[in-house]
Amino acid sequence: MKIAIGSDHGGFELKEEIRGLLTGLGHQVMDVGCHSPDSVDYPIQGREVAESVASGRCERGVLVCGTGIGMSIVANRVPGIRATLCHDLFTARMGREHNDSNILCMGGRVIEPGLAKEMVKVWLMTPFKGGRHSRRINMIDLPEQKNDSFEAH
Ligand code: RB5
Repeated sequence: MKIAIGSDHGGFELKEEIRGLLTGLGHQVMDVGCHSPDSVDYPIQGREVAESVASGRCERGVLVCGTGIGMSIVANRVPGIRATLCHDLFTARMGREHNDSNILCMGGRVIEPGLAKEMVKVWLMTPFKGGRHSRRINMIDLPEQKNDSFEAH
């Protein structure tokens, strides 16, 4: 799979670990930086990864900043992106099953590398469940649509 990765200084070390994991698993990795622990502004790397996924140049993306919050805000501004900020194996799996996540966001100052790498593996191998979740995803870009028939699960 072709996967874009990016971070700011707060996620630099974890992003480096994730690049090693992904290349070791045989994926083609496009690393947009940052390339050192020096301070950078996360919207630059966040937007570049999100645009590479939205355009189809890459199938998935992984973004890491200190908390993962800034990266998820930036990535979700790009049409077509469903960036999921995850903190554990459950959220990593559910982001794929229910939200068809195409970008995984994590906090380099929140999650230890061993867990983060397990999350990446789970996120990559979990398929989207479709069904009612497809309907909900289609509703995300139709905010004017009134919907009164939600299933409660
Ligand atoms: C950088 O200090 C920090 O603000 C950034 O990595 C991220 O956590 C923002 O959401």
